[in-house]
Amino acid sequence: MSAHLKQDEPDTRNVLDGMEQGIIGQPLARPDGLAKVTGTAPYAAEYPVADCLEGVLVTAPFTRGEITAIDKASVLSMPGVVAVIDDERLTARAAQGTAGEAPEQPAREVGYFGQPIALVVAQSFEQARDAAKHLTFDYRADDLDDVPLDPETAGAEPQDGATRQGDLAQAMSAAAHSVDVTYTTEGHNSAAMEPHAAIAQWDGTKLTVHASLQMLNYNIAELADALGLQEEQVRLISRYVGGGFGSKLGISEETVAASIAAMELERPVRVVLSRQQVFQTIMRRSETKQRLRLSADKDGHLTGFGHEARVSQLPGETFAEPVLQSSEFLYAGENRLLQLEVARIHRMTAGSVRAPGEAVGMPALESAMDMLAQQVGIDPVELRLRNIPERHPSEGLPYSSRKLAECLEQGAKAFGWDSGARQPRQHRDGEWWIGTGMASAARVHNVAEARARVTLKPDGTALVETDMTDIGTGTYSIVGQVAGEMLGLPMDQVLVELGDTEFPRGPGSGGSWGASSIGSAVFVACEELRAKLASKAGVSTDELKLKDGGVVGGATLVELLDGEELSFEGHYEPGDIADDYTASGYGAFFAQVRVNRFTGETRVDRMLGAFGFGRVLNAKTARSQCLGGIVWSIGTALTESLLFDPVDGHVVNCDLAEYHVPVHRDVPDLEVIMVEERDPAASPIQAKGIGELGMCGGAAAIGNAIYNACGARVLSFPMTPDKVIAAMPD
Ligand code: MOS
Repeated sequence: MSAHLKQDEPDTRNVLDGMEQGIIGQPLARPDGLAKVTGTAPYAAEYPVADCLEGVLVTAPFTRGEITAIDKASVLSMPGVVAVIDDERLTARAAQGTAGEAPEQPAREVGYFGQPIALVVAQSFEQARDAAKHLTFDYRADDLDDVPLDPETAGAEPQDGATRQGDLAQAMSAAAHSVDVTYTTEGHNSAAMEPHAAIAQWDGTKLTVHASLQMLNYNIAELADALGLQEEQVRLISRYVGGGFGSKLGISEETVAASIAAMELERPVRVVLSRQQVFQTIMRRSETKQRLRLSADKDGHLTGFGHEARVSQLPGETFAEPVLQSSEFLYAGENRLLQLEVARIHRMTAGSVRAPGEAVGMPALESAMDMLAQQVGIDPVELRLRNIPERHPSEGLPYSSRKLAECLEQGAKAFGWDSGARQPRQHRDGEWWIGTGMASAARVHNVAEARARVTLKPDGTALVETDMTDIGTGTYSIVGQVAGEMLGLPMDQVLVELGDTEFPRGPGSGGSWGASSIGSAVFVACEELRAKLASKAGVSTDELKLKDGGVVGGATLVELLDGEELSFEGHYEPGDIADDYTASGYGAFFAQVRVNRFTGETRVDRMLGAFGFGRVLNAKTARSQCLGGIVWSIGTALTESLLFDPVDGHVVNCDLAEYHVPVHRDVPDLEVIMVEERDPAASPIQAKGIGELGMCGGAAAIGNAIYNACGARVLSFPMTPDKVIAAMPD
């Protein structure tokens, strides 16, 4: 049986607050944690599959052109080599966006350096890798003088949906205070620990693929489409995913290639990308160039707000880094101009990397706000508080629950923020300048359609099944907690099965919508189960109190069920409510840094984030998401940068030695405050997303602290020592 809920109105019942079990929100350990830390949780490449062949991708060593011939014979006699797969479906890039639409591209055309062109299959991985290096092929490469590679000089198209309101130029020239400043941010790689991997098996009628994916509900359609199969002929399994951060939203070449090979050879085939291939072929976050124009009256009330950004993408691809997403609604300013444009260049595909848009848009905005506070001569926290709008400044919608002011105030207090107007270069410790900075956080709230089946077994335990994934975020935990809370069961009485397309379709893990969406589907199913149990117990649903496997002071679930099994599929759909409210997570970052006066090196001494994201479903996994986001903020601020060869556009720093994510030495003790909130318009469980909020502005808190420490205002992220030194006043 199924139960359906389309949310059109705020759900103010706060059902989960009235339950007896008391596990919702608790910092419970992950049920999958032990298997993961003991190495017994099988990731995609680790499933034991007998007689599995190994495939290694061959990639294009040129930027744009066409493969004209592949000489399979060049490697077929090498030891262990079984086949060379040069199917055109492999050359055509796999769609990377969430939309799942493959770009229009004639087969065998190459659009970027590193694009996969063939798969060499052998008995062992080493044999396949060796042969892949020796495969010879002919190609025609376009003259690089004719290939646009530089986003600065390439032609750009304005994106639809610009906001134009009032007269920004007029507001700027009439303003008591104004800031007009241009920032750049560099490309990013998702850098998930687990490289992309797939094992495909074909039994003649059905394809089973163990892969590392975020969105099985979409991925099954993408893969079926790429292979010309019906969805019913495909089964995808991703029970454990070692991080995705956007790079596994869509299927990519290892999954397509392994599938084609398995079907052609009628043998299981495994394809695991090398770290270098992940960097060169999967996707990048676009670099950005952003102009911020802020105008304000003498007290710092915004009168004008301008945010224009240029990002880049391959020709024909639809995704564009949505840099302005939270700028649309975060602050006041009646004269507004927000415009995104896309430069078409032949770097690899640009796609979603954790917090697409805000990850780079918010740091630029929040740095410009710091400059404005400096100019107005007020506390930067106060500047934010003065500019929290009543309604969406261009669309007029009310906000759903919004805890921005609380985050700013509680964060400042806990950090020991010394309020008031600020001057740089106030503290020095030997050769280190010391300073503090802050920034707001915002990340739009998304929800997605979701299904989950909840079954109450005659033995009084519950089983939850959905193809939703846990990409390290804690889905296993929060799904179990919602079900346990609703059904009055401790966590060890709830079994959660995820990551298999044979189960009802979940929302997938992306855009921070996972927890609130799948949690709502589980909630919907459990409401029906509670109604059944209430009638068995002879009470109204509202009166039903369940705890530790039974009615409080009454029958056990086993007795109530009396041998029966109850099962409901919960189906949650976002309703019209999204058109009625502006819903977002909010927060505030505070950082203390030290900057070396001779080398420009920056160390983060301490950092705090205060976040409001609706109901906290598990305080431990939510906090971990916040911590991870702040760590990404440190990377964005100081070290992470994809470097592209100016001659042919290939990614130069293709590994974790040269692409610098923060390591232990870079990350100080971090403090997280989770501000109490229920957002009844966000989801039926009053929860919003938290997977991305922790990096939406944090880099600016560090940059603003650098300025406060030493007076260097760096306009280019990451703020590496060379840039800090160059901006350092004498
Ligand atoms: Mo996220 S970048 O939508 O996985």
